[in-house]
Amino acid sequence: MKVGILTGGGDCPGLNPVIRAAVRTAFLEKFEVFGIHNGWKGLVEGEIKPLDLRAVSGILHRGGTILGTSRTNPYKDKTDLEKLKSNFKKFGLEALIAIGGEDTLGVAVKLHKDGFKVVGVPKTIDNDLSGTDFTFGFDTAVNIAMEAIDRLHTTAESHRRIMVVEVMGRHAGWIAIHSGIAGGADLILIPEVPIKMKEVSDVIKKRNERGKNFSIIVVAEGAKFDGSEVTLETKLDDFGHVRLGGIGELLAGKIEEMTGFETRVTVLGHIQRGGSATAFDRMLGTRFGAKAVELVKNGKFGHMVALRGNDIVSIPIEEAVGKLKTVDPAFYEMAKTFFG
Ligand code: F6P
Repeated sequence: MKVGILTGGGDCPGLNPVIRAAVRTAFLEKFEVFGIHNGWKGLVEGEIKPLDLRAVSGILHRGGTILGTSRTNPYKDKTDLEKLKSNFKKFGLEALIAIGGEDTLGVAVKLHKDGFKVVGVPKTIDNDLSGTDFTFGFDTAVNIAMEAIDRLHTTAESHRRIMVVEVMGRHAGWIAIHSGIAGGADLILIPEVPIKMKEVSDVIKKRNERGKNFSIIVVAEGAKFDGSEVTLETKLDDFGHVRLGGIGELLAGKIEEMTGFETRVTVLGHIQRGGSATAFDRMLGTRFGAKAVELVKNGKFGHMVALRGNDIVSIPIEEAVGKLKTVDPAFYEMAKTFFG
């Protein structure tokens, strides 16, 4: 059987472990694997090359994706979609493994409905895909953010400053809440809960009254200020997303204004997505890659692999992309125990 494999959307630590595991498992099944380069764009443009054991040797510990990625949406342009479908047939692909987040998997669902044999592997550092307990890449991002928070503690304390740390998380505050709790942040602000500046300044002032003359505030890039996201530009990508950024700076300015305390901002940005994956993400990626090939073998198209408890299961891709998994209000309430 000829199986294509692609990675779409933002890259993420753990992608190479998935590719490696899929190729090695497919080899045992005597499947022929083809790497599609740069996400859906590669299928539109016919950038498809054989992927053998040699190509995936030595990639387990490498960050990014050896296949490249893009945020191309083939359903945005009729001609692109026709080219994609004709390449699917021209290259003789009998199945496709699509590794991606809500956008890439959304395309996978549509393609499946159009009669193509697709299975999905959920990926995003944001961890906001439904149907799976965790996506790979998230654990790595959380560990990077936690280490940054640890480091910011010592300089914040020395200078008696407020440190605002802006982390990724477009629609969901998973990275913020996990890294914030693990790193001992004094306040965590997430997209799910609108920011109230009075509460922010009260936390900082109360800490100061207790003799704590520094504070660490973790804010997710998608946190809403005055009801709106803070953006870097107005341009939208193929899937209608705007580039977020700037909430940290905005918040820092307001904090200085309301508390009088000197404030600094650290924007972690793509550092959270770069570099090699944690052991947890390598394991999860490896298990996902192997299971994806099993789904292909068993003809479970339109399904994706998912982590439930400690089991790797399969669920309809549609279940994962229908609704984003956001931070549960009860979990945020628990996090508040450690604020201040
Ligand atoms: O892939 C998810 C994500 O990392 C979001 O957290 C972030 O908003 C976005 O991607 C950034 O995308 P880009 O790398 O295209 O700027």
